[in-house]
Amino acid sequence: MSERIGETPYTSAEEIKKELLEYATKYCSSSFVELIQETLSDYRFFVAPGSIGHHHAYVGGLAKHTLEVARVCVEAYKKQPKLDPDCLIGCAILHDCCKIYEYVLDRHGQYEKSEYYNLVGHVTGGAMLVDRRIPGRQDAVHCLLSHHGKREWGSPVTPRSVEAKILHDADYLCSREVEEVIPAEEVDKETFYPAHTKHMLEHVKKTHQLDVWLG
Ligand SMILES: [Fe+2]
Ligand SMILES: [Fe+2]
Repeated sequence: MSERIGETPYTSAEEIKKELLEYATKYCSSSFVELIQETLSDYRFFVAPGSIGHHHAYVGGLAKHTLEVARVCVEAYKKQPKLDPDCLIGCAILHDCCKIYEYVLDRHGQYEKSEYYNLVGHVTGGAMLVDRRIPGRQDAVHCLLSHHGKREWGSPVTPRSVEAKILHDADYLCSREVEEVIPAEEVDKETFYPAHTKHMLEHVKKTHQLDVWLG
């Protein structure tokens, strides 16, 4: 069985929540902290799967995937604090939060796509949430709308800012099979996260020629 990129040793929802809240309070502005606190206070965030057919397709997968993406974005921010932390870290934490509405359990206990999935979708839903709760942050709305990277992958716009490009890459790589990104010899359980982050940042630099941003 293959590992998922960014697989963390965390199994407790409480641990994931604590780390995400620490990132929010350390790096984000108060309006984002407030929205993130509220989002993470909904138990469904820690129960929902990351998807039902692709990555993190298990109970709690959404929270784990979110933590993995957030960790990569925090590392990118530490390398380049000129980036906007709300757009990078705040949006990393919120980017898939409306997935809690996308999947419902059927009578057999299997997840299936909800009406919300078909009528709204988490990409648009997340953008609307931020736009409604934190008016005037078009830059953050853009990051949420573009986080799938391409129109054919479900984003109505493609990433135009550095923060949006990094968030998309982090999301993309954190939903791939680990062997697609990290050389096998570097997959070490003890040092998994540093290897993951290192390769992800290298990928971001190469893809978007961001050496000037990420050093
Ligand atoms: Fe997404
Ligand atoms: Fe995601």
